Amino acid sequence: MLIDNFKKSDVVARYLPKKLVSIDHAEAFAPSNIALCKYWGKRQSELNLPVNSSLSISLAHLGTRTQIRPSQTGEDQVMLNGQLLPVESPFASKVISFVDLFRRESSYPLVIDTRNNIPTAAGLASSASGFAALTLAINQYFKLQLPDSVLSAFARMGSGSASRSIYTGFVEWRMGRQEDGMDSHAFPLDVIWPDLRVGLVKVSTAAKAVDSRSGMKRTVETASLYQSWPAQAAQDLEKIHQALSEGSFSQLGAVAEHNAMSMHATMIASWPPLLYWQPDSVVAMQKIWALREAGVEVYFTMDAGPNLKLLFQEKNQTLLETEFSGLEVVTPFVESGSLSTSTATVKKSS
Ligand code: DP6
Repeated sequence: MLIDNFKKSDVVARYLPKKLVSIDHAEAFAPSNIALCKYWGKRQSELNLPVNSSLSISLAHLGTRTQIRPSQTGEDQVMLNGQLLPVESPFASKVISFVDLFRRESSYPLVIDTRNNIPTAAGLASSASGFAALTLAINQYFKLQLPDSVLSAFARMGSGSASRSIYTGFVEWRMGRQEDGMDSHAFPLDVIWPDLRVGLVKVSTAAKAVDSRSGMKRTVETASLYQSWPAQAAQDLEKIHQALSEGSFSQLGAVAEHNAMSMHATMIASWPPLLYWQPDSVVAMQKIWALREAGVEVYFTMDAGPNLKLLFQEKNQTLLETEFSGLEVVTPFVESGSLSTSTATVKKSS
């Protein structure tokens, strides 16, 4: 049941000072993330409150850098990768409405300068890192000094998966229960797997026909199979926690792949059907299964699109780079000077 009692603006307003102040300019970076246990389905759409908890791995240096500075023209200016966008474009209007949640009626014309370093060829969504970087930059610019958990909840209001991009490494987003959604935020997990690799297999970079928001709405409304999803997601989350605490890469990979395929099954069971795969997605899946048969430990996960994300360990990197030409490999836990939390425990996967 969808309850749309709470408005984003009312929730955000509770955390704002009576009078906003600002600094000269602010800049923040947030990584992109890939869910190993997916968020699919909302129980409340205004605040992006999910039906299930999810868990992801952040993609280290791949993500979005956003700068906020005062606009000299008296009008908002939204830039994406160095290009000024028309304010009525879908990207600019989403960014401006999000910033409006914070500045409310005050007059603060801003330049919001967003750069994604996600290679376009990787076919990765940038809304998660985009809303997370924007939230972090707003927090600095208006000197809000809000805790990460609140920033994660705010980023979630821009795009659900952005709640997880506030952190590096393994991140869990607990679905929460409160109507205002403030207990629905992510937190980082205390585990580091230096040998974990995520490989981006590009099948297509064309914009998807049905975005995640409409895709999940259609699934929730039309797929009877979706009824089994919340229980499966809860079980998968449990199994991923177990894999992380035991350092079992095999279990992590297997559960992530099974979870992604189960989510896609609910999409396919929607009406009209939602099939994000292309023939080459299936070719890549079959190649992965053949490699596993041959003893190479590689698993995959997929979001609402045709591209695959491979999960493997460092020891198989060279082989997989040969098997999948153009594979973009990410090391989520980079060594010194990394984005990783320094307090996390090193637990190598086996
Ligand atoms: C399949 O976070 O993009 O990638 O909240 O409507 O903006 P909105 O959706 P979004 O959905 C992501 C769906 C997914 C799974 C995941 O990242 O958990």
